[in-house]
Amino acid sequence: DWTMAEFREAKIAEIKEQVGSGRVICGLSGGVDSAVAAVLIHEAIGDQLTCVFVDHGLMRANEAEQVVSLFRNHYNIPLVHADAEALFLGGLAGVTDPEAKRKFIGKTFIDIFEEEAGKIGGAEFLAQGTLYPDVIESVSFTGGPSVTIKSHHNVGGLPERMNMKLIEPLRELFKDEVRALGRELGLPKAFVGRHPFPGPGLAIRIPGEVTKERCDILRKADSIYLEEIRNAGLYDAIWQAFAVLLPVKTVGVMGDGRTYDNVCALRAVTSTDGMTADIYPFDAAFLSRTATRIINEVRGINRVVYDYTSKPPGTIEWE
Ligand code: XMP
Repeated sequence: DWTMAEFREAKIAEIKEQVGSGRVICGLSGGVDSAVAAVLIHEAIGDQLTCVFVDHGLMRANEAEQVVSLFRNHYNIPLVHADAEALFLGGLAGVTDPEAKRKFIGKTFIDIFEEEAGKIGGAEFLAQGTLYPDVIESVSFTGGPSVTIKSHHNVGGLPERMNMKLIEPLRELFKDEVRALGRELGLPKAFVGRHPFPGPGLAIRIPGEVTKERCDILRKADSIYLEEIRNAGLYDAIWQAFAVLLPVKTVGVMGDGRTYDNVCALRAVTSTDGMTADIYPFDAAFLSRTATRIINEVRGINRVVYDYTSKPPGTIEWE
């Protein structure tokens, strides 16, 4: 029976062995997994590691600042902050197919990592916070029709021409184990307890075309929703909660006027590993308070609905 302290020691030895005197680039996404991977690798090889935070403009409100300050101030681990919003939003213009979005985003991440690797004179390895469920859900299952459910950007979405070798120290772990490892490594409790956030970010929570304007609308709705969840003391009881901005406009009435605006869907699920999930049963008062705030405070949204779909048959994210 492994303890996390033993896992940590064994992985550190393994990473040292694998990397030797090479250099490693680690992409930080803002989530727990990549942060834990980065801190673990930094313990193993110190300044042979360069962390790159790719700000794709598809983060939630304030997320970029929180990650940058965790690494620079709490850990003192050097961090490259790549501002790539224009690159990502430019490339996503006109793209509406979910897998096309994921593939473009995965490829663009790699382009940026390779560019940053070039700036430090080359890196042999790329580190990612891939977990066991990511591996399972991105492979093509055999023995039946071949189906990829989603190309997770940190697994199936990697371009074949990538020059760097992958290091994925969390590949055998489930989320609860990554959190235990994060605590073992001294990550702040609030950071370790964060809800999962997908690498492709808000792009897969905006069905249809992704634009800066739509990202801004979604960020506002999402932060009101999460604020209400925190105020109600429910954050830690929920695996993941987020808003989705639908490509549908409906008619409403505000004061004396007619409105014709977007629909926002709210999603919240419980889960232990993300592979199956149940909807979180909010009470009606919570939902109506949150819907009212979003409609009153976010220009561009005039209707809010709650997603009642478990996984399966739904997935957690909408794309
Ligand atoms: P789905 O939507 O497949 O999501 O039910 C299961 C869990 O995985 C997260 N997710 C991702 N995480 N890169 C990630 O790092 C991705 O491309 C990605 N896609 C989905 C999702 O948020 C949920 O926690």
